[in-house]
Amino acid sequence: MKDQLMSLLAAAKESVETVDSLQSLEDIRIKYLGKKGELTAIMKQMGKLSKEERPVIGKVANEVRSDIESILSEYKDAMKEKELAKQLASESIDVTMPGKVARAGKRHPLNKVLDELKSSFIGMGFKIAEGPEVDTVYNNFDALNSPQDHPARSTSDTFYITDDLLLRTHTSPVQIRTMKKMKPPIKIISPGRCFRFDELDATHSPMFHQLEGLVVGEGITMADLKGTLDMIAKRIFGSNTQTKFRPHHFPFTEPSAEVDVTCFKCGGEGCRVCSGTGWIEILGCGMVHPHVLAECGIDPEVYSGFAFGMGVDRITMLRLEIDDIRLFFDNDMRFIDQF
Ligand code: PHE
Repeated sequence: MKDQLMSLLAAAKESVETVDSLQSLEDIRIKYLGKKGELTAIMKQMGKLSKEERPVIGKVANEVRSDIESILSEYKDAMKEKELAKQLASESIDVTMPGKVARAGKRHPLNKVLDELKSSFIGMGFKIAEGPEVDTVYNNFDALNSPQDHPARSTSDTFYITDDLLLRTHTSPVQIRTMKKMKPPIKIISPGRCFRFDELDATHSPMFHQLEGLVVGEGITMADLKGTLDMIAKRIFGSNTQTKFRPHHFPFTEPSAEVDVTCFKCGGEGCRVCSGTGWIEILGCGMVHPHVLAECGIDPEVYSGFAFGMGVDRITMLRLEIDDIRLFFDNDMRFIDQF
């Protein structure tokens, strides 16, 4: 039995020498010293021994157990160190490696110009109103006095979602939403996206931006409209800017006008930016039609108002001398970085 114990010790020693992980050390411990291990198996035969032999063999067995335990713990410490060294080596950071440059984003040119426009209007006492990009046919057309047979209502001009819902073709439905919600005096602007069935080219996009304005109160006249828009034009394009109001037609304003400003690039002499005319068209406007006021529950005998809508993409293109609207929506940082 003593021989058995001694060869068990030798076998344990041998197998410990070949281990390469903490887990296999644990496997060895279980194999030799575990409850169902080899040492226990030998000990179970102690009953067969004589009284004299028993303490002798018992002592040997205990020595073998403690020898195996101390070998195991020695190897365990060495293994731990080895594994730590391996982990440190694999996780080490090469501080001399070149870093990754974090690219800072930039404000989109449309947002830049829109921010300027907004702060000019806010400085004149306008509040900002919002409306959805999907709106009702009623808000986009009917309530704006646009008759059933108006060409803008055709399916070749407008993206319909259902018979009653569409992608708004202008920001003017915000006029309706605002007047139905608020009582005069009203003084709001509302920038946002609009959609029309346009072929994409250098100056047209099926998705574009407008900035709507609406002022309603007692005694508001065409003089207020002209004064306000002239002042805004000077703020946006420079104090030497002059404005020209050309008669026009919109179903929801009467009278209506389009506004041109003297070219900020050449001052009115004629250049590439203004196509040689000296003037640049920037917006449509007019006095809110009495039908529209009445439709929104505002008495046209008591109140009057004016409204305007400007093309934000167009103004941005003119201001920053961008000659292709598609560049706005390409998401190319080489373009955006220039402004
Ligand atoms: N909604 C008009 C357009 O898209 C512009 C406009 C707005 C005209 C407000 C008059 C008053 O062309």
